[in-house]
Amino acid sequence: MNIHILTLFPEMFEGILQSSILKKAQEKNAVTINTINFRDFATNKHKTVDDYPYGGGNGMVLKPEPIFYAVESIPNYEKARIIMMTPQGIPYTQKKAEELKKEEHLIFLCGHYEGFDERIREHLVTDELSIGDYVLTGGELAAMVVVDSVVRLLPGVLGNQESAETDSFSSGLLEYPQYTRPEEFRTWKVPEVLLSGHHQKIEEWRKKESIKRTLQRRPDLIQAHQFDAKDQALIKTIKRELNHEN
Ligand code: ADE
Repeated sequence: MNIHILTLFPEMFEGILQSSILKKAQEKNAVTINTINFRDFATNKHKTVDDYPYGGGNGMVLKPEPIFYAVESIPNYEKARIIMMTPQGIPYTQKKAEELKKEEHLIFLCGHYEGFDERIREHLVTDELSIGDYVLTGGELAAMVVVDSVVRLLPGVLGNQESAETDSFSSGLLEYPQYTRPEEFRTWKVPEVLLSGHHQKIEEWRKKESIKRTLQRRPDLIQAHQFDAKDQALIKTIKRELNHEN
């Protein structure tokens, strides 16, 4: 996968791209990630990237030329998903990450302070994504979130140690509680079943805890998920147990 990130603040990406799994993913050639300062594509000598809005009003608007020219300088940009990071975008989810991981070319557009000239949306961008209902100072942090969550899904990036398959959301449910040594800490004991060595019982316990946690914290996920008959029965039982607890 080839990723290009258009930003006025490429230095914001340095730490993220040079650390941990994103760094390793680039070293393993699972992905190339480049930042492009679209100010380099400004057309006047002052390198202006924004201007006052037609019709008046507060704030500045990012001009179309630097962004179009920067995108058009990227090899194979015609084949790329061109993703604008904006709070007006569709809400980003794990499902979208699974979709984007199949692409060969991704281009991210990050605005800062300003809005984008509408012609960028209409004639360049293929996707608009929001990472949540809050407003950041710019699209950079949002682009990092999307890049991070897509790259970790690429083949060969995560080892077994960090497997993506048992993550929260990959099954549509939140992850079950995990424990490690010691067996007892300040009188707090690890659940007996996890020490039993009984694999089937452990799987059942984990499934149940996973559903319980999701029911309590994110009932919206349960509603959205398709369960088989056995799991539906389990959900009913857990709901009954939770009602008795309250
Ligand atoms: N830019 C500013 N806020 C944002 C958000 N919540 N998601 C994506 N891009 C943004």
